[in-house]
Amino acid sequence: MTPAAFRQLMRMHPAAVNIIATGHAPQRTGMTVSAFMSLGVEPPTVVCAINRQAFTYAHMRENQVFSVNTLAVEHVELAKLFSGQAQVFGDDRFEDGQWDMFESGSPCLRDAVMSLECRLVRQVQESTHCLMIGEVISGRSKDLAAPLLYRDGLWMTTTYEGFPEIA
Ligand SMILES: Cc1cc2nc3c(=O)[nH]c(=O)nc-3n(C[C@H](O)[C@H](O)[C@H](O)COP(=O)(O)O)c2cc1C
Repeated sequence: MTPAAFRQLMRMHPAAVNIIATGHAPQRTGMTVSAFMSLGVEPPTVVCAINRQAFTYAHMRENQVFSVNTLAVEHVELAKLFSGQAQVFGDDRFEDGQWDMFESGSPCLRDAVMSLECRLVRQVQESTHCLMIGEVISGRSKDLAAPLLYRDGLWMTTTYEGFPEIA
């Protein structure tokens, strides 16, 4: 399959949107990431796929800790900011003051759907990306926050409309 055909297929895959962040102020870095999932429960482990060209990648390796912040629909501008669309980099991405800090120092988005504090335990290089495997140290969540989703270049959220048996 050609890379273009593969890319077109993957555009159809709906994904939750997260900000992966690391470092203390004034040296925080973070980026928008959809390639994130839970890997195992014992011990609690997650994995995300990070482009090795990303500024945040080197900082995750250096700090050995990072956070995962699953975005709510009202965070759409943050998702754009942390994907580099506004040409804002490094600690400047955190300027709007919505960020607290986990005990290990990683940034924690205050009204995130869910935030995890992770310790980097393993890195697996694969072509352009690296699978960053983290053991989860702690976490918090916000009940009933509607998640931000991304599909086919569009931002969206979940709806329970039409599924009254779920709501
Ligand atoms: C919806 C969305 C999802 C993304 N998912 C990933 C991802 O899973 N992994 C990745 O390396 N980059 C992903 N990116 C691209 C990075 O956010 C972007 O390259 C970012 O600017 C890199 O961070 P840096 O500016 O610190 O280098 C995604 C971008 C968007 C808009």
